[in-house]
Amino acid sequence: MNTTFSKIGFILAVAGSAVGLGNAWKFPTMVGQNGGGAFIMLFIALTLAVGFVIFLCELYIGKKSQLDPVGAYYKLASKNKKLWSLVGFTMIGALLIVSFYSVIIGWIVYYIYFSIKTLFSFASFNTDIKQNELIFNNLLSNDLTSVIICFSIVFFMSFYIVSKGVKNGIEKMNVFMMPALFILLLLMLIYSMNIDGFFKACEFLFYPDFSKLNENSILNALGLACFSLSIGAGSIITYSASLPKKTNFISSTLYIVFINLLVGLMMGLIVFSFIFEFGANSNEQGAGLIFISLTSLFAKLGILGSILAILFFIALFFAGITSAVSMIEPFCFFLINRFSFSRKKALILIGFIVYFLGICCILQGRIFDILDYISSNIIMPLGAFFATIFVGYFIKKEDLYAEFSPYLKKSLFELWYFFARVIAPLAVIIIAFFNFYKG
Ligand code: PHE
Repeated sequence: MNTTFSKIGFILAVAGSAVGLGNAWKFPTMVGQNGGGAFIMLFIALTLAVGFVIFLCELYIGKKSQLDPVGAYYKLASKNKKLWSLVGFTMIGALLIVSFYSVIIGWIVYYIYFSIKTLFSFASFNTDIKQNELIFNNLLSNDLTSVIICFSIVFFMSFYIVSKGVKNGIEKMNVFMMPALFILLLLMLIYSMNIDGFFKACEFLFYPDFSKLNENSILNALGLACFSLSIGAGSIITYSASLPKKTNFISSTLYIVFINLLVGLMMGLIVFSFIFEFGANSNEQGAGLIFISLTSLFAKLGILGSILAILFFIALFFAGITSAVSMIEPFCFFLINRFSFSRKKALILIGFIVYFLGICCILQGRIFDILDYISSNIIMPLGAFFATIFVGYFIKKEDLYAEFSPYLKKSLFELWYFFARVIAPLAVIIIAFFNFYKG
């Protein structure tokens, strides 16, 4: 029933889902707050030991069943089918995320517009951080019309892309946007290499100072590794249902994990080169780092700064929208499979929910935080946990090996299997537990 991606389409679409605002601002922010290089090493280690392992579990579930998350658990479970299919409903987490995530992409659209405006009026951003803070806060609290318009643009665009289906919508968009994102970032990176701040940024990002890690760092790194690989919200299961036959999914996954890390590092290098060059605060929070500090720094470069700002925000927009689309598709695919909805009808139903929640987030900042908290700290860890438990304990080992053996040596398969049964679930329990206690 579902069309399949091309091989490169699959890699780019899943990489598009993974690379998102998580890389663009959660990653630089957390690196900044947890002392740089040591946090990155931790993040890489956890991405491989936990993220990669669970990613393969979800990929297996999608590939084997060729269904949406709910249908997939139902089909693959040998007993308690109904109970397992409940796990598939963690895809609701993706709908909650896309509601507030699209609001943030909306701010990005506003900043693209703003940068273009400053470019053509030959003016520039404000160089004073305080002034830019005012502009940003003013946008959020007083200029709701602009925020709603920008959110609506993002909303209609992402739903339009999903309405075109896997091959003609999702794949086409990713095949264009992912390389474009990469080129834009590369241009920015080359520029950053030529400013003095680049060396400090490299030192900060690559020199591991373990004394700067604290007890939250490991939890942050693990949470980010899962969020950043889109695990636990149904997106990977859904995209893997359209995996082309005979794809070496192990090497595809390695590419995806690598691209995800690379983009995070490139973003980090760019952001911190500017921060160190012009002396803003590297401890700044996500939105502040991007919309306030960075814009002030661009402003110091006059017209060139406006051009860099446009490139940067367009890159963020591409990163964001390719992820947003991957959050909408799971539920849409579910409605199509389960209730024989047409794609259009499914999207109208989902659209109402997402638009309503998005507007609630705009009008009431607390809802924004609540949706983020419920999805990232509760639903996604649950989804990730049950995916690894399901594959580790409820799927026959021979069935798994049959799928993995063409691409993975027996010894490596055993290693992955051990991680899927023991290390990954334990790690998720630990983050969930600590997150819960932190409140
Ligand atoms: N991985 C995306 C990011 O880094 C977020 C995401 C979460 C995408 C869950 C899909 C599902 O921004």
